[in-house]
Amino acid sequence: MTYKFLPRTLMITLASAGLALSVPAAAQVDEDAAKLLFKQNECGKCHHPSQNKKGPSLKKTAKEYKGKANAEAEVLKHLTTPKKVKLDDGSEEDHKIVDSKDQKALSNLAKWILSH
Ligand code: HEC
Repeated sequence: MTYKFLPRTLMITLASAGLALSVPAAAQVDEDAAKLLFKQNECGKCHHPSQNKKGPSLKKTAKEYKGKANAEAEVLKHLTTPKKVKLDDGSEEDHKIVDSKDQKALSNLAKWILSH
């Protein structure tokens, strides 16, 4: 009786369909982890997803980098290199760097910022 094998065949078909649909791992962003890191480092004090505060909104940053091949590397550099930034009131401040040495977490955060 061949019908006995049908469910198994079906399962394999579904499994490979699922694989085909899934996004390549490199493009995936762990949104919760990125948000947590962003919150822990108080980045939200100056950066809002869609509104400009003391710093540019994440949307604005994402737009600026859109289409640039080295976008993630550039943002990563910004997240890890201290530099002076001008606030909207004209004063200068050392830009906060992310308190993490975890490259995966950092690049996830950069990807998340760029996903806005
Ligand atoms: C005191 C306010 C303040 C805090 C806190 C702050 N930023 Fe910023 N940030 C700014 C300002 C102002 C700019 C824009 C000036 C510039 O790019 O020179 C900026 C720019 C950026 C940019 C855009 C860089 C670019 O090259 O366009 C990113 C990305 C960014 N911040 C991420 C973060 C992250 C992540 C944190 C938390 C670790 C953070 N910021 C904390 C004020 C702040």
